[in-house]
Amino acid sequence: MKQRDAKTRRTAPLQTPSDLGADASKDVSAALNGLLADMFALYLKTKNFHWHVSGPHFRDYHLLLDEQADQIYATTDPIAERVRKLGGTTLRSIGQISRLQRVMDNDADYVTPLDMLAELREDNQQIVGRMRQGHDVCDEHGDVATASLLEVWIDEGERRVWFLYEASRTQGE
Ligand SMILES: [Fe+2]
Repeated sequence: MKQRDAKTRRTAPLQTPSDLGADASKDVSAALNGLLADMFALYLKTKNFHWHVSGPHFRDYHLLLDEQADQIYATTDPIAERVRKLGGTTLRSIGQISRLQRVMDNDADYVTPLDMLAELREDNQQIVGRMRQGHDVCDEHGDVATASLLEVWIDEGERRVWFLYEASRTQGE
């Protein structure tokens, strides 16, 4: 590769062509990057609780949280790639996740199993709400493909909330 070509390539903007327009790219990308940071934060918190849960319902909770963590993790690549398809840029580091995440970390030494389930239920509920807001942004710009992905992830989030609710409801401490 000639030196000039390399230079041009290095300085060229990472703008994938999209007919949705610059505003759609900016607004939908911003919504998706915030969601992506939250999904990574929620993934790690769910794994944290999967690893540290303890007590008589250990097996049930341990397995439930692993299942949920897998589902959350599976959304991250499609969210990031959606941003790139729209011509935006996405997350580059754990540091960037920590600056953008709205899901709060929980670094406590010990959390009771029922508190774990309640906290994750609340986090998932809030993420579902933010995905609905993201869906509104997509509607404004006619971005049906991102909207359609969000509809699936909203349904998955609502399922996680349902399971976390039922699992905590039927157990006494
Ligand atoms: Fe595991």
